Amino acid sequence: MSNLNNFSESDKHRTSKKDETLDNSMFNIPKDSEKGFPLLHISEQYYSFSDLIVTDEIKERLENVISENRSAEKLFSYGLKPKNKILFCGPPGTGKTLSAKIISSVMGYPLVYVMFDSILSSYLGETATNLRRIFDFIEKGKFVVLFDEFDIVGKKRDDPHEHGEIKRVVNNFMQMLDNFESRSIIIAATNHQHLLDKAVWRRFDDIIYFDLPDIKRRKQLFEKYLKVLRRSKDFTLDQLARRTKDYSAADITQICEEALRKSIINNEKIVTKDHIMWAISEQKRRKKTISPEN
Ligand SMILES: Nc1ncnc2c1ncn2[C@@H]1O[C@H](COP(=O)(O)OP(=O)(O)O)[C@@H](O)[C@H]1O
Ligand SMILES: [Mg+2]
Repeated sequence: MSNLNNFSESDKHRTSKKDETLDNSMFNIPKDSEKGFPLLHISEQYYSFSDLIVTDEIKERLENVISENRSAEKLFSYGLKPKNKILFCGPPGTGKTLSAKIISSVMGYPLVYVMFDSILSSYLGETATNLRRIFDFIEKGKFVVLFDEFDIVGKKRDDPHEHGEIKRVVNNFMQMLDNFESRSIIIAATNHQHLLDKAVWRRFDDIIYFDLPDIKRRKQLFEKYLKVLRRSKDFTLDQLARRTKDYSAADITQICEEALRKSIINNEKIVTKDHIMWAISEQKRRKKTISPEN
């Protein structure tokens, strides 16, 4: 019982909730015909642009997508359409999913999340049916639709076993994208844009490339994510930014959280150089485990 009490005490300090799963049974969610699992997931998002640290250019392009879609009626009256098919590319952990959440939140459209992999069926032809069901669903409402890890399409293209079916899926997806008439905004995200060919690229209204953060952005990330605690005077944000060249925004988030946890568990109430250096070395170790060539 005391544990429970402790938990509710610490619960007060939780940061405000950013993702909220909507009651998905309210929607007639399309399901995979073979296995019956849901093909997409719907949630409500509570993020803002202040959550995102990227170059001004990326921010402007994201804001442009929002302002065009907000002025959709005006554009329609001139026979024009807002950009609503966007490709996000760039290395993992650079803010692609986060940006889709921000657009969903700012537009006030629920986020429809589709893991691209999950629509591939082992039955010939079923994949196309799954795709059709997803498009039928999203065309009926106003959603931000994230097709995540879209590169699976590119990745498997060279695999002789998968080749025929994947090629069909790519063609299907492209056709559906071409014929897509809806107020929903489609975002496809990939870490492997080099695997996508020109035919794929030109189907999108805009392509936004998320890069690893430069030194200025790394500094801002450390500042943002260390804010929870006071910082000791034995290090500067500049030093941290210089030590984390080639680290992604998500890496820096993890470093900060690791350092904060260490300090909080030890009841130190301040984050020191030791905490951070330890957290950086831990992140380096994790990165090595994931990709040994680093
Ligand atoms: N540009 C960024 N600005 C602020 N935080 C970021 C940024 N990129 C990533 N993060 C942090 O890392 C987490 C994972 O990032 P995510 O958007 O899922 O990366 P991606 O989809 O590009 O692989 C985010 O939820 C956020 O906490
Ligand atoms: Mg992602």
